[in-house]
Amino acid sequence: MTTASTLTAAAQFLIEQNYEAYTSEQHAVWAELVRRRRPQIDAHACRAYLEGYEFLGLEDDRLPNLKAITARLKPRTGWSSTPVSGFLPSDAFFEMLDARMFPTTTWLRSRDSLEYTPEPDIFHDVFGHVPMHTHPVFADFLQHYGSVCAKIKDKDTLERLGRLFWYTVEFGLIREDGKIKVYGSGVISSHGECTNVITGGCEARNFSLDEVLNTPVRVDRIHSRLFAIDSFDQIYEAMQEAEKRVLAH
Ligand SMILES: [Fe+2]
Repeated sequence: MTTASTLTAAAQFLIEQNYEAYTSEQHAVWAELVRRRRPQIDAHACRAYLEGYEFLGLEDDRLPNLKAITARLKPRTGWSSTPVSGFLPSDAFFEMLDARMFPTTTWLRSRDSLEYTPEPDIFHDVFGHVPMHTHPVFADFLQHYGSVCAKIKDKDTLERLGRLFWYTVEFGLIREDGKIKVYGSGVISSHGECTNVITGGCEARNFSLDEVLNTPVRVDRIHSRLFAIDSFDQIYEAMQEAEKRVLAH
């Protein structure tokens, strides 16, 4: 397993988060982003996300301090929220996941692009992703995903496994008490995608590894089909199965 001290591909992307440099306007933009997402999140995010948000001590009206988040997260699941300079090439990304280090951007979108940014910012990364890293099974799944992908060189195989990431970590749904809840960062952090799910504009299919691996990712339109799990054990087991299949080739 890769550890923080043995990173190679990712080492050049690690930075410090200069927390004191955030301006009051940036804290205000963060607060506005959270305020806009709160009603849907409180009603439609899954339990693991909501509990994780509380556990990490995230504050609705201040940008998150990644060191403080990691201090709470690491003793629980071994994960850290590690500042990086921007979008990572896939080998560096997988290497960090394998080391239980979530590559986290430190820049924040400006007030004139509240709903959408083409590249992930700290709001997408922390508000969208990091609360789920407090869930032990999800945490193990994510690390296993990184460790398997880090060893794969074949582009087609990586693309198919990328679909598993997309339809779980980024756009995953889960059934709780007979209702569809959201846990993927893209549905957590986007009003449009989340509204589409909760108003039935998007079909929630039962999660199936085969179907997910055969469903190409479309980034140019809102989703018409996503996949709902019954528990996080399901994606943990799907990753075990995916690894077996990759090794068999
Ligand atoms: Fe993401």
